[in-house]
Amino acid sequence: MNTHYEITGLSHDGRGITHINGKTCFVQAALPGDTVTLKVRHEERNFMEADLLTIEQPSAQRVQPFCNKYDICGGCQLQHLAVEAQHRFKADNFFTELKQQVNTETCEFVETLTASTIGYRRRARLALEIDKKDKQARFGFRRAQDSRLVDIDHCPVLTDKLNVAIAQARPGLLAKASRKTHEFTLVDVDNGIFGLTEPDEQPVYRIQRETELKLQFPQDGFIQVNAEINQQMIQQAIDWLELNPQHNVIDFFCGVGNFTLPMAQIAKQALGVEGLPELVAAAQQNATSNQLTNCQFEKADLFKGLEHLNWYREQKYDRILLDPGRLGAAELCQHLGQLDAQKIVYVSCNAATLIRDIKLLQKQGYQLTKAGAMDMFPHTTHLEVMVLLEKGQKVKKQKAQRLASKKRVFKF
Ligand SMILES: C[S@@+](CC[C@H](N)C(=O)[O-])C[C@H]1O[C@@H](n2cnc3c(N)ncnc32)[C@H](O)[C@@H]1O
Repeated sequence: MNTHYEITGLSHDGRGITHINGKTCFVQAALPGDTVTLKVRHEERNFMEADLLTIEQPSAQRVQPFCNKYDICGGCQLQHLAVEAQHRFKADNFFTELKQQVNTETCEFVETLTASTIGYRRRARLALEIDKKDKQARFGFRRAQDSRLVDIDHCPVLTDKLNVAIAQARPGLLAKASRKTHEFTLVDVDNGIFGLTEPDEQPVYRIQRETELKLQFPQDGFIQVNAEINQQMIQQAIDWLELNPQHNVIDFFCGVGNFTLPMAQIAKQALGVEGLPELVAAAQQNATSNQLTNCQFEKADLFKGLEHLNWYREQKYDRILLDPGRLGAAELCQHLGQLDAQKIVYVSCNAATLIRDIKLLQKQGYQLTKAGAMDMFPHTTHLEVMVLLEKGQKVKKQKAQRLASKKRVFKF
């Protein structure tokens, strides 16, 4: 008879965790709370990997995946886990890592930002090719276990408009498929669907603010995939920074101005810094078309030293926002303290590089005061998080004031 194992945790890549003879074992498709039988597939000195054979007792959080391609498609990894449990798992994993690796004495751990979990994806990359093995034409995403394509006629996490466009374009695309792979970046934004036909205008998305913003972007360029979470994320960043009309703010890795423009609506001056010239040009154009005259953009490679750049040396900044890609911003964070900003909001899609960079900022006198996850990519293991760092002295003073006011309340 097969031995039964209880799954006690979930790894960052969505595999169940159990222990066999004291060794950690990662079990594909298992969830915390499941009792399973398994077959060890691979063993190393300090861990094992196993395939799930049977679920003897399912976890209370186990749910039926809603997509009929879930078993083979590499797009989603957590559809078999209830959405609330996904939020808890992602936030807990992030907070545990923070607590293990950086000083979190002054940190408030905040609720995850959440929104719709179906039809949320407004940007997706699909591929078209004839499969080398079975010679079938396919249009879709890559499979989880190898690089072959899964044919997609409908994807429940894409927006309805993207699904309609894909269904309409599919027959024509499949007829034109060849062994050479063609990639398509599809986006669903305010002025239409882009990525399937030659566009006659630039794509534009909106950000709802007191005065609405419209941002154009290059069709293949970066935009946040989840419009609802993007709205909430911008608001949370502004709230955490406590932006006011006296502030000079700088937005590193600014793209087309997704954070810079909403911040410029409040602050005295906003400067966005970005590496790709076409995004800098689009950001500048966005500032002009939204009548924001207190907004500037600079092109700079933020992985290189910044000391030679005038805007870096000559201006005092009160607030900093940074939103780098997966590599993080080590070179920038090493010297960021020189700008002497009181508050820094760091948005990240990679907890490991974020933690490395928080350590660099803590060495320069910043304290971690808030941390929270954002459900930017529901049903996947991708994590998007935001942290706030504040200059040490001020944090201490605020804490002391809070404590003093509490004492006063007790006296009466
Ligand atoms: C995660 S995106 C964020 C964009 C923007 N903040 C937004 O919300 O849409 C990261 C941005 O960093 C830019 N970037 C990547 N490497 C860079 C570098 N070495 N120097 C400057 N910018 C860089 C990318 O072009 C991209 O626009």
